[in-house]
Order: sequence, then C-alpha cells, then structure tokens
Amino acid sequence: MASSGSIPREFIDDLLLRVDIVDVINTRVPLKKKGREYSACCPFHNEKTPSFTVSPTKQFYHCFGCGAHGTAISFLMDYDHQDFVEAIETLAESIGVTVPREGGKAPSAAQRQRSKDLYTLMSDAGEFYQIKLKSSQKAIDYLQSRELSSDIIKQFKLGYAPDGWNVLEKQFSQNYKRYTRQQLLDSGLLIHNEENNKIYDRYRDRIMFPIHNRKGQVIGFGGRVLGDGLPKYINSPETSLFHKGSELYGFYEARKYTQKLERIVVVEGYMDVIALAQFGVSYAVATLGTATTQEHIKLLFRAVPEIIFCFDGDRAGREAAWRAVENTLPIMQDGKEIRFLFLPEGEDPDTQIRKNGKAGFEASFETAASLSDYFVDALLQRFNISSSEGKARFLDEASKLLKLMPESLVKEQLLEKLSRLTSVPVATIRTHKQITRADDEPDHEFSRLSNREVKKTAIRYAITLLLFKPDLVQFVENMEQIALSDLPGSDLLTTLIETIQETPHINAAALLERWRGTEFEAAFSSLMKWRPESDDQDILEAEFRDCLRRIEKNATVLKIEQLLHKERTEGLLDQEKRDLLELLNMR
Ligand code: UTP
Ligand code: MN
Repeated sequence: MASSGSIPREFIDDLLLRVDIVDVINTRVPLKKKGREYSACCPFHNEKTPSFTVSPTKQFYHCFGCGAHGTAISFLMDYDHQDFVEAIETLAESIGVTVPREGGKAPSAAQRQRSKDLYTLMSDAGEFYQIKLKSSQKAIDYLQSRELSSDIIKQFKLGYAPDGWNVLEKQFSQNYKRYTRQQLLDSGLLIHNEENNKIYDRYRDRIMFPIHNRKGQVIGFGGRVLGDGLPKYINSPETSLFHKGSELYGFYEARKYTQKLERIVVVEGYMDVIALAQFGVSYAVATLGTATTQEHIKLLFRAVPEIIFCFDGDRAGREAAWRAVENTLPIMQDGKEIRFLFLPEGEDPDTQIRKNGKAGFEASFETAASLSDYFVDALLQRFNISSSEGKARFLDEASKLLKLMPESLVKEQLLEKLSRLTSVPVATIRTHKQITRADDEPDHEFSRLSNREVKKTAIRYAITLLLFKPDLVQFVENMEQIALSDLPGSDLLTTLIETIQETPHINAAALLERWRGTEFEAAFSSLMKWRPESDDQDILEAEFRDCLRRIEKNATVLKIEQLLHKERTEGLLDQEKRDLLELLNMR
C-alpha cells in the first residue's frame, strides 16, 4: 500500500465529499433503500438476511454481521483488492478528475516535489550515517560487542550518528545546499526546542537503523545509544513519509532477502530483527515502538498466510499480544493463521537465536499457541470460571470479542472450545449478547446509543455527534478544558475538534481516512457505527451542548478527585491548594 503522504490531504478530503459511497457500492453490490440508509447482503461474509448497511450521511458502510466497515476508499481496497492509491484513482476517475501527481496542477506538483526532496534527504542522511560508522571505532566496537557480522551491518545499512549537537545540520547545509532548514525539520532529523529556540540534531552518538518503506526508500530511523544510557532508542517522529501505524521495521528486507516468504515473525525490537536475519531467519519484522495495529496485520496478511508473534513472556509482552489479538479478530479469515510464542523471562529473540540457532528457533514455533488457545488462556487468566459469576463474566468478555469476528472455521473452533470449557452449548453462547447479530436483530440500521450509555460517556457521544454533523464544532467553547482534562477519550475528541476547525467542510468519511493507520483509527471507526437519536438540527445542537456541559463537569470532578487523592498521599503545593478550593466552590 502506498502511503497517503504522496497525495495531498485536501484532495482526498474533497474527493470524499464529491463521490457518493452509495453509487460506488451499488455498482458492485446492489443496494436497497431502507429508511435513511441502504442495505444489502454483506459481500464480505456469507449471509442470507442483509446486515450490510450504508449511510449516505456519513459516507460510511458497516456490516453488523461480520464487522466490516469503512469509507468508499476502504470498500474498493477490500472488495476490489485495490491498494490505497489505486482506490483513490478509481474514485477520482468515476467523477472525472485526475489525482494530482507529476505534471499536474501547480500546487500538487510542488507538493510532490517536496516529498521527493524529503525521500532524497532521508536517503542522503542514511548514507551519511553509514559513512560515519566506517570511521568511528567506538561504534564499530559496539556493534562487535553485539556480535553483528559485517554482512548483516551492510544488509541493514546500519550507521552511526556522530556525537555533537549540529553535525548533521552543518553537513547538510554546507554540502547539500538544496536542503532548507525547514526540510531538515520536516524530516525529523533536526529538532526545534521551543523553550530555548535552539535547533539541533535529533540523533547524537547513536547507532542508526534506517527504516525502509516497501519500495526500499528510507522513511525514518531508529537510533540506539551505545551503552546503557537513556532513552535506549530514539525513533523518528511521524512525518509526511513515516507513519508508525502502517510501517514495519524489516519488512522490506524480509521480502528482499527471503526466497519464498511463507510466514512472518513479529518481534519487539530492531536488534531482534537483525540478529534473526544474521542467523538465517530473514523473515522477521518489528513494530516501531507501538502496538501492532490492524493496518500492520492487514499488510502482513497480504504478503503471507501465517504470522507468528514472538513476544517477551512478561506483562508488557502479554499485553502486546492481547492487543494483536483484538486487532486481528475483525480481519481473521480461514486460510490465515496467527500464533503466539512467549519467550522465557529475560530472553529476547536476539539472545534465543544465538543460543539455539536457526533450527532451534524455528522448532520453537511448533510450541507456539494458536489464536484460539491463546484467546482462551488469556481470558482464563482474568476470570475464574469455577464460580458461576466468573463463568458469566468470562463468556461476556469472550462473546464481546467474538462478535468482532467474521464467520469462519476459526470462529467455529473457538466457540466449540468455549463450549467445552464452560459446558454451555455453542448455540447458547452464540445467542449470548448476540454474537451473530445479523440474524436476530430486526433493525439493522445504524445502532442508536441508549440514554444510559450516553450518560456514561459524554465524550464518546460528543464524538459521535461531530462525526455525524461536523459543523457542530462551532459550539465548542471550552476546548482548552477538554484538552487538558485526563478524561478517557479527551485526546480523541480534541484531535477531532482541531481537525474539523482546520478543515470546516470535511465530512465523516474524510475524517476517518485521516486516521487510517494511526492509533485513533479503531476508536473512530467504532464510534462511526453509532447514530444520534434524531437528525433534527436543533435537537443535535442541544444534545451536543449538553455533552459539552457534562464533559466540563466530569473534567472538574476528575480534577477534584485527583487533587484530593494527592492531598492524602503526597500533599499539595500552594497553587494546587488554591486550585482545589476554587474547584470546590465552582461545584
Ligand atoms: P527493548 O528494550 O527490548 O530493546 O525494546 P531491544 O530491541 O532488545 O534492544 P537491545 O537488544 O537492548 O539493543 C524493544 C523495542 O522497543 C522500542 C524499540 O523499537 C526497541 O527495539 N523502544 C525501546 C523504543 O522505541 N524506545 C526505547 O527507549 C526502548
Ligand atoms: Mn535485546
């Protein structure tokens, strides 16, 4: 998949305002009008009664049977198996416009030139670091102490960022006149410290790991300290070229150096990928200091049918594995497989492969847990099913997750396993919380939030309302308070508000596309499914204002609780005491 960075954002926003998702889908899957929405039998799973719903207001589709959802772009990607850029081209063609690219209109040509320069800059930086490694004995010694072969250092193009605050900056402004300071800042290679207004190299005295995109272009770097200093790794920030949620370290190298790619091992670190490759396991990738996203898994599943997650056995490793499960369930299909290998405490793939070699490491895959084994084990750790209450909570949680899964053999196996374990018949588990929602729900319209839920989560409802009607943003007055509060979801809401304020005519589909591959994607997609009670402008406005008031109140209550807690535990500073008194008066 090409990154969205190469096509101007504004073009995508505009495109999604101009195409109609109903037309796009209808020419491929005939739709029937049903109230305000359209429906059909879902093209992504087998069903007899329609649970696939398309909302013209939001320009969004959602299947209540299998959970498939997305914008016109996602539909073309999933239904026609197009990649991101192809999908945009298809949509553009359908309304007779061309996607801005080389030779296109002036602003877009400039835009492309900028990103072209940025690619060249990153590649030049990569070479610069490689050259510097050759002349730094200290860096060479470090890599030797890590027992990296010189072949593997070349294969992964490792480098060294010299010590000093402005080494790269000086080099690149003297010898590479074509790079402006702004470009160096945009690339993430320089940092601007706002406090003292100084600009300096992000990477100093570090081993450099270039991160390549699927075409082999350098899009970012990881930099490791040469000893025990902190932070151990510094990663490139998100830039127009680099999106952590959709890039994997080592993926390019795995495709390049593996004869026949049949499976991929996902590990936690740069050094793990490289050590594995040195010992012949050339098919390892690592996420870049983030959790595994759905985008990552989709990407890997397009390349191979089998993914093995190889994580630490500690708590962090188990949490990472669980995140991967949650992100895999909605896109799990027969013929695809994921498995989990947990390493003993204190070990990582780097140490393991050095001890056991390729054969030993690959043999350990045999002991890796299947998705269904891991799913059940992880839930059993959390719930004690020997009591009937624990069993109910166990099934509750399991069915909540199963609901995300398309119908498949894997799902069937999971259900059977749960049934054996709890002695509850499969059919009962299926109807519990309506795991297969489509067939027993008379109304397949976009779900409504019940009043009770709305009360619980004013933030979520505010987001829902904004996605439904972005121009409600005009009523936001207490932006700062939302941004500063620690309420769950406040970062999501703040991001949404800021984006709408910057691009006032944006619609829900375009908003969702902006978060493709980011940490916010899943949360926004799931809130897209909800629909407000009414589409009357006055009611929406009143509900939105009410949400804002509740958020304000919740933020105050939370702040008070935090201050009171601090008062009990570590005591308050004078300013905090005054804040607390003021807040208590406000109530
Ligand atoms: P680890 O601490 O397990 O490091 O972090 P490692 O990969 O085994 O590296 P060595 O063997 O100590 O050299 C795993 C991954 O988490 C991210 C990096 O991507 C790292 O490879 N990480 C870790 C950071 O982004 N920042 C940090 O400060 C630490
Ligand atoms: Mn390590």
